[in-house]
Amino acid sequence: MSAPGTATARAQPNIALVKYWGKRDEDLILPVAGSLSMTLDAFPTTTRVSVDPALDEDSFELNGAPAPAAARARTVRFLERVRELAGASARARVVSANEAPTGAGLASSAAGFAALALAASRAYGLDLDAPALSRLARRGSGSACRSIVDRYALWHAGTDDASSFAEAVPAPDMRLVIVTVDGSEKAVSSREGMRRTAATSPFYPAWAATTEQTLEEMVTACAAGDFEAIGQLTESHALRMHAVINASMPPVRYLAPASVAVFDAAASLRAAGVSAWATADAGPNVCVLTRPDDAAEVAAAVAPLGAVRTVGPGSGARLVDSAQ
Ligand code: PMV
Repeated sequence: MSAPGTATARAQPNIALVKYWGKRDEDLILPVAGSLSMTLDAFPTTTRVSVDPALDEDSFELNGAPAPAAARARTVRFLERVRELAGASARARVVSANEAPTGAGLASSAAGFAALALAASRAYGLDLDAPALSRLARRGSGSACRSIVDRYALWHAGTDDASSFAEAVPAPDMRLVIVTVDGSEKAVSSREGMRRTAATSPFYPAWAATTEQTLEEMVTACAAGDFEAIGQLTESHALRMHAVINASMPPVRYLAPASVAVFDAAASLRAAGVSAWATADAGPNVCVLTRPDDAAEVAAAVAPLGAVRTVGPGSGARLVDSAQ
């Protein structure tokens, strides 16, 4: 049992099949359209929050060392929101560790803020239901609202703070073969990339207008277990996201030649009758979506292109024993 005022939570990253790119409210983090993702069964972040009235300020330790200033500032802002909800003023000690390989694009803020939302809300005595927890996580990082949810999450864009949250949707068992082609830090953060795209890309209105339609088609395909449709929508939507990004000014390009090679490998696999569709976030690394039965063949085919790790659907944020 945890001491009163202390809670530990664990959450994993998620990969979107229908992407979130662009906010219509920067402060509330309301997205321009809804999105759909798979919560991964790998790369957990575990976070312990201990409320301590003796502290003068919040502290944040990440992977065994004091967190960098920017990460600490974001965490303090998030704790302020939790204190506001709880009507509390005491500061907290946050200790967090993540198991994502550095540079795989998975040391994500999604797992971090999903775990922090659950641990901090409990440590401050709040017992939020799943939608309220998802809304809280969203304020830390948009995509974090989806890591609250088990397996497959649909983030409703919503029209205000209360209506913008993620919930579970039915979908068939899938695998993602993650191909890390480049482990370095991305040059343009997703926050800045989104701003730039929304402000300057001439394709942005079309992206915003069509994503809800794609999302509806994806929800239908997932409910029907139509793998072919899920795969096509996934790859097409990822390419659309990179197209709208690529049209920004000053230019931004996240995909590298090695990323494109993975998209080509997925196309070759499909031509040979293997289920394989590629997707990529705001970085050069690529995930290949496949049926569980094809995962080993896909992993072997893309192994020459980068470091490979196959993942499946996993649990949303949950409380764990702090001794773990
Ligand atoms: O939640 P953020 O600000 O890290 O944005 C995530 C954006 C993408 O990963 C590129 C797409 C998505 O839906 O996860």
